[in-house]
Amino acid sequence: MKFPFIRISQTFAAAVLLTACASHHPPVSELTQFTPGLGEIMAQSAVRHAKLWFAGRAQNWELAAYEIDELHEGFEDASKFHPTHKDIKQPIPELIARYMDQPLAELEQAIKDKNTQAFSERYDHLTASCNACHQATDFGFNKVIQPSFNPFANQSF
Ligand code: HEC
Repeated sequence: MKFPFIRISQTFAAAVLLTACASHHPPVSELTQFTPGLGEIMAQSAVRHAKLWFAGRAQNWELAAYEIDELHEGFEDASKFHPTHKDIKQPIPELIARYMDQPLAELEQAIKDKNTQAFSERYDHLTASCNACHQATDFGFNKVIQPSFNPFANQSF
């Protein structure tokens, strides 16, 4: 009859300890929250943009569709975390809708159709639209181009 009591008191002590710890520290969510800067999101998008090119050239449509999804997610994060930017007059979500929605949708269709010719043309249109937004926001010196060689030695396309 002694054992159950000991077990209960241990459990109680552990609960008291946990409650005490919790009240002295900020919630876990505050500690783990990290917001990437717009420049970080863009640098990541540039990687997706390059991988997208090599996936499409290799007719690896599954990978190409994946990279387009990742681009979408990056731009969603840009809108969510950076609705405004200290050096830019226009709201970021508005710019993304204006410059990215159509080129991304058209490129997605080329990937669905497994159309290599359309893929190349629409990829160049997407690239031009990236640069159009850079120019509109006075970041035109960030000029994106069609990648000339594949730097991703550790990924199969
Ligand atoms: C909202 C309009 C907009 C669109 C659309 C856009 N960019 Fe950007 N981009 C920016 C802005 C603004 C910066 C500078 C952000 C900063 O540093 O605060 C930037 C920066 C960059 C940089 C420099 C990041 C670095 O660290 O070197 C690259 C690369 C880049 N963008 C690539 C792209 C690519 C690729 C696309 C298209 C797939 C794209 N961007 C679409 C606005 C845009």
